[in-house]
Amino acid sequence: MLPADLVIENASELLTIRGASSRPKTGKSMSSLGIIRDGAVAVSSGKISWVGASDRLRGSVRVGPRTKVIDASGRVVMPGLIDCHTHLVFAGSREREWLDRLSGRRSRGATGILSTVSATRRASDSELTKLALANLGSMLSSGTTTAEAKSGYGLSIRDELRILGILGRLGAMQPVEIVPTFLGAHAVPGEFDGSASYTRFVIDDMLPRVVRQGIAKYCDVFCERGAFTADESLDILRACKAEGLKPRIHTDEFSDIGGTDVANKVHAASADHLDAITQDGVRNIKAAGSIAVLMPGVPFFLCSDAYADARGLIDAGIPVALATDFNPGTCPCLSLQFIVSLACIKLGMSPAEALSAVTINAAHAIGMADTIGSIEAGKQADIVIMDVGDHRLVPYGIARNSVRTVIKRGRIVVQG
Ligand code: NIG
Ligand code: FE
Repeated sequence: MLPADLVIENASELLTIRGASSRPKTGKSMSSLGIIRDGAVAVSSGKISWVGASDRLRGSVRVGPRTKVIDASGRVVMPGLIDCHTHLVFAGSREREWLDRLSGRRSRGATGILSTVSATRRASDSELTKLALANLGSMLSSGTTTAEAKSGYGLSIRDELRILGILGRLGAMQPVEIVPTFLGAHAVPGEFDGSASYTRFVIDDMLPRVVRQGIAKYCDVFCERGAFTADESLDILRACKAEGLKPRIHTDEFSDIGGTDVANKVHAASADHLDAITQDGVRNIKAAGSIAVLMPGVPFFLCSDAYADARGLIDAGIPVALATDFNPGTCPCLSLQFIVSLACIKLGMSPAEALSAVTINAAHAIGMADTIGSIEAGKQADIVIMDVGDHRLVPYGIARNSVRTVIKRGRIVVQG
């Protein structure tokens, strides 16, 4: 037996979140975190090689002179957090729009997604990369080790390909692993006279280029009044799916225009937002087998009381994941720890449910539950050590960064 590269021992709570790699957690199982008290983990060649009680570690794993030993006494050890819905690459910011909203003023001048599209189109590759790297650094230091990231602020062939290309390169430039999603149908750019003609352009002209370059794993559509209709969303997701991209959908963020039915028809990997979901919508998501990705940072930032019915979704047996939706217009938050707090306070989720939702269920939402999302032998060693001794203190410490150490693929990448 070769000595382990790294061992973490004496964790007050080791949250394994085990047993849900083949199917996401639903219902009551979202409340069980597979906690080992006084737990230990061993890591070899970037993977978890052993998990158990600290007093069994040295009898089961070889700890040699070159093994890095971390004493996690009084600390929670858990899987790296997974942000399964972000809009990572863009330029500019939209604080003016937000300040106007706060003071009840009507915004003048450029606002909304298209104003970010203009800023993004003007920015060079290196500017966009630099901005994204800074945001990834902040994500990583708050415990995010994997993030889904969408295009969608380019909306031209050149700029959508540019953003997806940048997303592809970012993975090799810093530790956060990135799962790229093609969101050409985020808004209708000014060059088009309506969503119908732009929908044809996305399907006939943009999609083939994205597919040819192999730069996206998922496709997404913003199905909403003022963006894309249910029929257009269905056409786009069907076309993308036929080309091998897995569908997901922004739906019922502000209104129900039939997006959950689209999710059902394409068996979307995830249905995201759902703040305005109806009973029929819940039935559609259940039938679709999609993960419900809830993002309470959005209504929070928009000063709205319309939060998703997380309890109704969980009671219906639908697996729930949580994400930031990091973007400049509706949620500029990079911290999943804060989203976990909001899920407890605003969605009525328990700390354990919310932590399941940012680990194993988020891994399922991005098709990676076989490699990440839990601390189990054989999985990639993506591990976070929290500076608190009880997992419930993570959401309790609202807006506090409880992260002490972040380990990505067995390597210490943040040391508090
Ligand atoms: O997920 N809903 C669409 N897209 C983003 C908002 C993007 C923006 O306002 O720039 C969202 O909320
Ligand atoms: Fe979004």
